[in-house]
Amino acid sequence: MKVIAFLGSPRIDGNTELLLHEAVKAIEEQGHGVRTFKLNYLRIKPCQDCGGCDKTGKCIINDDMNEIYDAIREADRIILASPIFFFGMSAQTKAMVDRCQSFWCEKYLLKQTIPEGPYGRKGLLLLVVA
Ligand SMILES: Cc1cc2nc3c(=O)[nH]c(=O)nc-3n(C[C@H](O)[C@H](O)[C@H](O)COP(=O)(O)O)c2cc1C
Repeated sequence: MKVIAFLGSPRIDGNTELLLHEAVKAIEEQGHGVRTFKLNYLRIKPCQDCGGCDKTGKCIINDDMNEIYDAIREADRIILASPIFFFGMSAQTKAMVDRCQSFWCEKYLLKQTIPEGPYGRKGLLLLVVA
């Protein structure tokens, strides 16, 4: 099973990373590998609302989201871990989530299903406050 995780906290060994680490450990103990993306260290430009993905389902921006798009497409399980910053997810997390607008266009405007693997596609949301 392909499992990916997004760490949305900028704080090394902070609360979010500790919680995510526990989740990853439990998954690895079941024999599955987990690929973690530390969003703070990636080059992810915020969505420009340019409409570029409306007709193609593809984002026109060329940055580290390219790798994330591929990883999400192939993932069976997706973990999103973020601290709460002013009642919402962190800016690092929100930038990545907004850039998934291209998936939304692919599914809801272009009516193309994004195929799931044999295990289906499920998510785990970890939101951390003090
Ligand atoms: C900019 C900022 C905004 C925050 N806003 C909230 C908030 O709205 N509600 C809350 O309960 N905690 C808030 N916190 C506290 C963090 O959510 C909390 O310290 C969290 O555990 C930080 O996770 P980390 O250790 O992974 O960085 C905020 C912290 C920061 C730095």
